[in-house]
Amino acid sequence: MFIELLKTRRSIRRYQDRPLEKEKLETILKSALLSPSSRGTRPWQFVVVTDRAALMKLAACKEHGSAFLKGAAAAVVVLADTAACEAWVEDASIASVIMQLTAHALGVGSCWIQVRGRQHSRDVKAEDYVRDALGVPEEYAVESIIAFGYADEPKTPHPEPQLPHAKVHFESYGR
Ligand SMILES: Cc1cc2nc3c(=O)[nH]c(=O)nc-3n(C[C@H](O)[C@H](O)[C@H](O)COP(=O)(O)O)c2cc1C
Repeated sequence: MFIELLKTRRSIRRYQDRPLEKEKLETILKSALLSPSSRGTRPWQFVVVTDRAALMKLAACKEHGSAFLKGAAAAVVVLADTAACEAWVEDASIASVIMQLTAHALGVGSCWIQVRGRQHSRDVKAEDYVRDALGVPEEYAVESIIAFGYADEPKTPHPEPQLPHAKVHFESYGR
């Protein structure tokens, strides 16, 4: 059941020193290409990075929340053509999370690194840093980097009794 998969998903930021099988990476990428998108515009592009030096460079894209990428087996940088569709943020986000869920189904850990709207340093946007590191053309926004690798940290599922059910409203707000 898909819900069982969702119950055990957690963000993984510590990885074993073990490469990701080519077939698993291909399945993860296929799942991204199968993602729904607004009006079927598919505004995304994906840059797959496995080279250690390149992962190290991307790990420095922000001051906080990206350093763990150094230890990942692979990263997929999610880009979007902002002129293709006004819902590109949603489209790129959906593809990002679909890759994460596919990875989890394959026994592979992952974590989202937010790039859009974040700073590399006071004067440099994280997006520009990543664009420069990977040679991404100006017309593409950088939404996220999804880090992948086999987990080297124990993570327990979110306890079900603690789920914020009060955030769900039936028929009208507040009920
Ligand atoms: C839009 C979005 C942006 C995120 N950005 C980062 C990030 O930049 N760095 C990071 O370590 N985790 C990031 N995360 C992971 C969240 O911190 C994580 O999902 C949250 O703490 C809940 O933990 P869980 O995924 O284990 O349930 C992001 C998640 C989402 C959905």
